[in-house]
Amino acid sequence: MPIDSPTVLVTGGAGFIGSNLADRLIQEGARVRILDNFSTGFRENLEEISGSFEFIEGDVADGTVVASAIKDVEIVFHEAALPSVPRSVEDPVSTHQACVEGTFNLLLAAKDAGVRRFVYAASSSAYGDQPTLPKSETMAPAPMSPYAVAKLTGEYYASAFYRVYGLETVSLRYFNVFGPRQNPSSPYSGVISRFIDALMTNTRPVIYGDGEQSRDFTFIDNVVDANLKAASSATAPGLVMNAANGERISLNSLLSTLKEITGKDIDAEYLDPRTGDVKHSQADNSLAVQTLGYKNLVGLEEGLRKTLAWWQNSRFAR
Ligand code: UD1
Repeated sequence: MPIDSPTVLVTGGAGFIGSNLADRLIQEGARVRILDNFSTGFRENLEEISGSFEFIEGDVADGTVVASAIKDVEIVFHEAALPSVPRSVEDPVSTHQACVEGTFNLLLAAKDAGVRRFVYAASSSAYGDQPTLPKSETMAPAPMSPYAVAKLTGEYYASAFYRVYGLETVSLRYFNVFGPRQNPSSPYSGVISRFIDALMTNTRPVIYGDGEQSRDFTFIDNVVDANLKAASSATAPGLVMNAANGERISLNSLLSTLKEITGKDIDAEYLDPRTGDVKHSQADNSLAVQTLGYKNLVGLEEGLRKTLAWWQNSRFAR
């Protein structure tokens, strides 16, 4: 990143996206501080980060912890969240506390501490089940789950803090990010990590619904790169942008591809669709392409191979 050794704060840095982002920021010469409470993150992810960083164990919703974590920070990358649509359906209170109160708390602290830029991990779930594809930022949001509402609320707060206080916020609406370090072991884990784990342990992957729902799966490196660009672009402040490949694939086709890549011919078990699940998701990524020079550095199939290679060397291979 074209900034001289800034001190950056990565919230959720022990998580999947945060730890990959921290890795890249260290490579680029930033002084990285990570804040994480291990609610869904892992010490193993921190151990995989190459290079040195400062670590603070704590919750983004805790004002005292955040006040010390934000000291001398120039750029915040806010990745901390309680992800998952079904988790939010079962436990909306925890999702609200982590995503809404955590984000609000962090924005307040960032404003008070004079942070220059605040890049927020927003979510494609904001679009809900709008029939028009691809989904572009000009469409009215239609969140369908407590998770979607919580992530969208954080986005609204970020935009308001830009307009009202001049805090340079940028929201990146991630579309189904996947890759190394995504935890496959929770029922709330992303579908690609679940499918790889099931196939490689000779278990039947579960498909909720008929498998014809589709997603715009985005490899982690693309999203990490978008974050760095969002942190340095002169025209990004105040914007909400899709961060995605701009293509979609059904779960049935995804599973066929994974069966080929893994060499495992195991059929899926089909269960009822999940409550709050969106049918189709695909991004129009032209705003990020124009504003940030966003690129699909790694496509779906190459990303799946890299994710599988990571899994094979991970603690989940047994
Ligand atoms: C949603 C958001 C995404 C966000 C993520 C955080 C949308 C379109 N996407 O992802 O931006 O980052 O929440 O958690 O709202 N599934 C199976 N079998 C499994 C697991 C999942 O069939 O074992 C299905 C789900 O029902 C869903 C699809 O796979 O239809 C993707 O699910 P998941 O990976 O959990 O992500 P989303 O809920 O799409």
